[in-house]
Amino acid sequence: MRENYLLHKLHSLTGIVPIGFYLVQHLTLNTFSLGGPEKFNGVIAFFDAMPLHFQVALKAVAIWIPLIFHAVYGLFITQRSKQNYTEPAYRFRENRYYTLQRVTGIIAFLFLCYHMTTTSIFGKMYGAEATIQYHNWAGTLSQPVLGVPYVILAVYIIGVVACAYHFSYGIWNFCIRWGITVSQRAQDSTAKLAQAMFIGVSLLGIVALLGFFNPIFQSSEAIEAKSPAVSQEGPVEL
Ligand code: HEM
Ligand code: HEM
Repeated sequence: MRENYLLHKLHSLTGIVPIGFYLVQHLTLNTFSLGGPEKFNGVIAFFDAMPLHFQVALKAVAIWIPLIFHAVYGLFITQRSKQNYTEPAYRFRENRYYTLQRVTGIIAFLFLCYHMTTTSIFGKMYGAEATIQYHNWAGTLSQPVLGVPYVILAVYIIGVVACAYHFSYGIWNFCIRWGITVSQRAQDSTAKLAQAMFIGVSLLGIVALLGFFNPIFQSSEAIEAKSPAVSQEGPVEL
């Protein structure tokens, strides 16, 4: 099968809008974890309060359909492309960056399959309270896998950093592909912007994850757990 010009352009565009935009706003809202359970759960409750038909329509148009298209077409492009930095004549730094973008695309794909199943789908199946609200995260991220703790946290950090790299390098490539940066000087400037984006977006995700381990909220939850509402006297009637 040959690549199609229009589909390739659409693939390129969806990487920036809506997926890139979604990534940045999603990680920004996830940093509400720093504000504790009330703030973080407030974001989930905000979306949950919308009528179901509107939620489904909004998510389908804003993220699910573009992401499925971008991922499937991206995997198709990846399996067609060949590494081009193994030839001595092509051992340019850019070629390594380019290969790394394809590798991070595959990591993003695997991460998102796991992540969307365990958050979005499990959230709807078992309820947000039991799956994606603040108090679940520290336990989920630290739970041992084959006896090794914090494997899930490592998976999340790898997933976040891979998405941040893929997106940031993508901005640089996008600007060249769409004729926005033509001169070498302009391309060097966007390379600096892309590096800053990579660091900034990675930090957003990592800080959001660390917010779930804030000892202040861990202990306040412990106090809550011992509160009269769950004590031996039984639930408190308000
Ligand atoms: C700091 C790490 C992250 C945390 C704590 C996190 C948290 C969440 C939560 C709680 C949900 C469920 C939302 C809901 O159903 O109300 C979700 C869904 C989702 N996340 Fe993340 N996420 C993280 C990283 C990422 C990354 C790096 C991406 C890459 C683009 C991503 C993409 C998605 C997508 C596409 C959905 C499904 C959207 C939906 O159905 O609402 N997430 N995430
Ligand atoms: C889900 C798995 C994903 C796969 C398999 C994938 C694959 C790819 C591939 C192969 C390219 C290079 C296209 C080319 O050079 O011709 C690409 C470009 C791009 N991707 Fe992804 N991607 C994925 C997820 C994401 C995510 C989550 C984002 C944003 C957060 C994203 C943003 C971009 C951007 C901005 C570009 C650059 C567009 C351009 O080259 O003009 N991708 N993707």
